Amino acid sequence: MSQQRSSWKSNLGFLLAAIGSAIGLGNVWRFSYMAHQHGGGAFLVPYLVALIVAGIPIMIIEYGLGHREKGSSPLSFVRINRKFEWLGWWMPVVAMFGIMLYYSVVIGWCINYFFYAFNLTWGPDTQGFFFSQFLQLSDSAAAIGGIRIPIAAATFFVWVLCWLICYRDIRHGIEKASVVFMPILFILTVVLVIWSVSLEGARDAIFNHYLNADWSKINLFSPDQTVRSNAGRVWAGAFGQIFFTLSLGFGIMITYASYLPEKTDIGKNAFITSFVNCFYSFIAGFAVFGIVGFMAHSQGVPFEDAIKGGPQLAFVVYPQAISLLPSMNVLFGVLFFLMLVIAGLTSGISLVEAFACAITDKFDWSRSKVVTVVCLLGFSGSLIFTTNGGLYLLDIADHFITNYGLVTGGLLECFIIGWILKASLLRRHVSRRGTIIPPIWDVLVKFITPAILAYLLYLSLVGDLAENYSGYPTDQLILYGVGWMLVCLVVALALTFVPWKPEKLKRRHRPEEDELLV
Ligand code: PHE
Repeated sequence: MSQQRSSWKSNLGFLLAAIGSAIGLGNVWRFSYMAHQHGGGAFLVPYLVALIVAGIPIMIIEYGLGHREKGSSPLSFVRINRKFEWLGWWMPVVAMFGIMLYYSVVIGWCINYFFYAFNLTWGPDTQGFFFSQFLQLSDSAAAIGGIRIPIAAATFFVWVLCWLICYRDIRHGIEKASVVFMPILFILTVVLVIWSVSLEGARDAIFNHYLNADWSKINLFSPDQTVRSNAGRVWAGAFGQIFFTLSLGFGIMITYASYLPEKTDIGKNAFITSFVNCFYSFIAGFAVFGIVGFMAHSQGVPFEDAIKGGPQLAFVVYPQAISLLPSMNVLFGVLFFLMLVIAGLTSGISLVEAFACAITDKFDWSRSKVVTVVCLLGFSGSLIFTTNGGLYLLDIADHFITNYGLVTGGLLECFIIGWILKASLLRRHVSRRGTIIPPIWDVLVKFITPAILAYLLYLSLVGDLAENYSGYPTDQLILYGVGWMLVCLVVALALTFVPWKPEKLKRRHRPEEDELLV
């Protein structure tokens, strides 16, 4: 039975949910670490450029498309052109099976650490604790070992929360959860930033390592060849970060926008979502640099030795810094991990929603049944990342999905909207309802953004072919990286071959556009 499509109760609810999807685990440390590695304050320049030439234009594509077609990504794409339905499936399949399976496990780690914070269980050797005691990490990706029960239990809890939130329709589930969680997240962040900045050694680190620009790192026109090629990598990193952080290329924003009412200001919403997300990263950077600076200062080691990338920043460096705090360590630890859990959860529900909505659109099964099955399947799939070898698998899957999956999704989106649907048509659709999008957007979407994304793909491929990612053996990379993406593609193709009910594909009545089509 076809059900009435739900809608957001208010534009603010929509914005909070979309911002909740964008702000996630990646904003807290991925941004800070990249900024540090790529020239401190100078990194903000490629980051801002990436935001303007790729982030906001593609956000407008996704919002505009979801709003125009009133459907999840497969439904939106099939309504434009049947040949591209597979892409509409591939994006949410990758979101669900490529990202959410491990993203839920990392939120599970945060839940464990939230409880550890109550008595600083990690002790003085936080590195040994994380790898040997908590993860009980095996020697290589080939040795998967067994399931770690505390991690699996917390992951189960994450899926239960996602199920509870996504089970109900958008305005009673995700919107309500976002309206509660997002203000809490903002307050927690402000408290932690102010606290971190006031620690001894924090200001030095912020001024010398975060806000201090090393312009040579971004100079693409330097006469020196090595400087130029390093700068190329920094620019590529900035674009990759913008995609990941804005949750673009997964069909999430298409799905969220499909629940918007007819009258809505898409340009303004796209701008607000992108701006708030990036501003949040910038502010969170003060907390990260502040606390690492405090730790370096209290241990008397250089800042460079104190900062670490990836999961180590949250699970090794932060616990160590928390233990060193002069007072109220427990409170700081509990608030910090709570902040991560909330940031992660509001992104996790968007990943589940993108997939579940696509399934309900095509099969017309009841939302509650679909969400139940999706969460059960999701939890079972996550178990592989809760094993002793889980961290390796997670690292490989993440590398391939973020470097190739996401960018390919964005590139194809630009192609389909720019050339098949016609950029000007979508621009008019968006502009008629609110903020007027300038025609330069067409040029970006048709030529500039896809050219940059194609170049990024080329850079990643050349880098991976020249040198195995993080030194993993080739067979592991192929199995867990390339294999994972191929499985997603097969699932997407299988879903594409199921026929649609004909009434779903009827062209929607759009008198305002008819004049343009003849
Ligand atoms: N944007 C989220 C973050 O920065 C991660 C995410 C990526 C969420 C893709 C959903 C989809 O952590």
